[in-house]
Amino acid sequence: MVAMRWDCPSFALVFAVSFILSIAEVCNGGRTSSFVRNDQLSHDMPLDSDVFRVPPGYNAPQQVHITQGDRMGKAVIVSWVTPDEPGSNSVRYWAENSKFNNTAQAIVLTYNYFNYTSGYIHHCTIKDLEFDTKYYYEVGIGKSSRRFWFVTPPAVGPDVPYTFGLIGDLGQTHDSNSTVTHYELNPSKGQTLLFVGDLSYADAYPFHDNMRWDTWGRFIERNAAYQPWIWTAGNHEIDFVPEIGEDIPFKPYVHRYHVPFKASGSTSPFWYSIKRASAYIIVLSSYSAYGKYTPQFKWLEKEFPKVNRTETPWLIVLMHCPFYSSYVHHYMEGESMRVMYEPWFVEYKVDVVFSGHVHAYERSERISNIAYNVVNGLCTPIKDPSAPLYITIGDGGNLEGLVTEMTEPQPSYSAYREASFGHGMLEIKNRTDAYFGWHRNQDGYAVEADSLWLKNRYWSVSESEELSVASI
Ligand SMILES: *[C@@H]1O[C@H](CO)[C@@H](O)[C@H](O)[C@H]1NC(C)=O
Ligand SMILES: *[C@@H]1O[C@H](CO)[C@@H](O)[C@H](O)[C@H]1NC(C)=O
Ligand SMILES: *[C@@H]1O[C@H](CO)[C@@H](O)[C@H](O)[C@H]1NC(C)=O
Ligand SMILES: *[C@@H]1O[C@H](CO)[C@@H](O)[C@H](O)[C@H]1NC(C)=O
Ligand SMILES: *[C@@H]1O[C@H](CO)[C@@H](O)[C@H](O)[C@H]1NC(C)=O
Ligand SMILES: [Fe+2]
Repeated sequence: MVAMRWDCPSFALVFAVSFILSIAEVCNGGRTSSFVRNDQLSHDMPLDSDVFRVPPGYNAPQQVHITQGDRMGKAVIVSWVTPDEPGSNSVRYWAENSKFNNTAQAIVLTYNYFNYTSGYIHHCTIKDLEFDTKYYYEVGIGKSSRRFWFVTPPAVGPDVPYTFGLIGDLGQTHDSNSTVTHYELNPSKGQTLLFVGDLSYADAYPFHDNMRWDTWGRFIERNAAYQPWIWTAGNHEIDFVPEIGEDIPFKPYVHRYHVPFKASGSTSPFWYSIKRASAYIIVLSSYSAYGKYTPQFKWLEKEFPKVNRTETPWLIVLMHCPFYSSYVHHYMEGESMRVMYEPWFVEYKVDVVFSGHVHAYERSERISNIAYNVVNGLCTPIKDPSAPLYITIGDGGNLEGLVTEMTEPQPSYSAYREASFGHGMLEIKNRTDAYFGWHRNQDGYAVEADSLWLKNRYWSVSESEELSVASI
């Protein structure tokens, strides 16, 4: 009886304590948005869609797109495809208000994939451009010639404001079209797009029907011909199908999307770096070897010490597969690469790491998980002001749909997560402050569903933590 009297309350106490603890654990993480949406799969836009229209005229250049062509932003790679014959291989370009026209020569490539034969893929690097200048350029000849324009970035420097858009896992569905439209009409006006991998999803088709690489090129032209898209390779670029004789990984991607990898001492288009305005951008490959002694590892080891934060205060890493994601799908796929590279990210105070792969949005706290040494048991992420912010932005809107299943409770490293399609915008203001906003496709063009001010990790790491402005 006496024991019973003591047992019951103590049982109740244990129960109450464990209940409170489990509540505390649930509250440990950040926010999981309650925004509810229709997560029906969206189909790829049909081949006769307006966005895939072939430009008029014999052999007219199509799939025009540009990317940065050197280390500092004074060169641009112009790429386009001519369907019928190689045609003209030159780009005519001139600065706005200039009296002179220039011409640069391209290289032209073709490739076969199973029974598909590509058009003539042209890549032209135009060099020695002036900073901060609008240029017009033309490709094609006669009635089939087409004119576009771009604006070069300001000279590299610490307090140069610049706005980067962020899109990942885009594909070519109606949702993809909505994402691109929202990016175009965002009043923050992205000047360069950082693309975190998984481009066309042509590999979803039988024999990876490469016609869908062509439709994708025509779809993104309306933006990618006017501002550089900075490319990262994702798993949907691998196109490795030895059963049908396609045993060269990344074949369509490397023929179609050139990047200035040699300018940063890289030996491969899958990892490289550029400087642009006040940012130093390092692109990594989740699907190339990254272990010790591999080419990517050796390159990155030499790369981080080269970053001069007085010149480029903002250090940004792009890679397809996230290190920190609390969604069930692809959970921990980035773990082995995290073990290899996270210590450098913290040591060199990377500001933000943008990834895709997981078809949803998530923002982490500033945390690191680098103390573990196999025997000490220190294997939980902890708050770390030197650590990057990890943002998953794989929510471009492809035919695989959203991932909605999340690990529960929300881990403490996860600050905000929501399964909606959208894009991001990183607005660098000066060496200490930048603003990040995430925009979902269901909202008006100016609405930010999640946003925060970022403090630069090198120049203001000791200042108070960033505050999220709004998460709705
Ligand atoms: C440069 O070439 C374009 C297209 O051919 C033409 O419209 C423009 O007038 C030319 N500019 C000069 C200064 O010759
Ligand atoms: C390629 O092969 C597939 C499967 O046999 C066929 O459906 C398709 O029409 C072929 N395409 C071309 C361009 O020959
Ligand atoms: C894609 O979006 C653009 C811009 O909003 C629109 O003009 C076009 O009709 C859309 N196309 C499709 C197939 O949804
Ligand atoms: C870093 O960049 C600044 C500004 O361009 C320059 O003055 C300084 O010499 C550079 N430091 C090194 C170590 O190169
Ligand atoms: C940097 O930008 C932030 C945000 O716009 C501003 O509050 C701050 O005063 C700026 N710093 C300097 C040194 O201009
Ligand atoms: Fe992916």
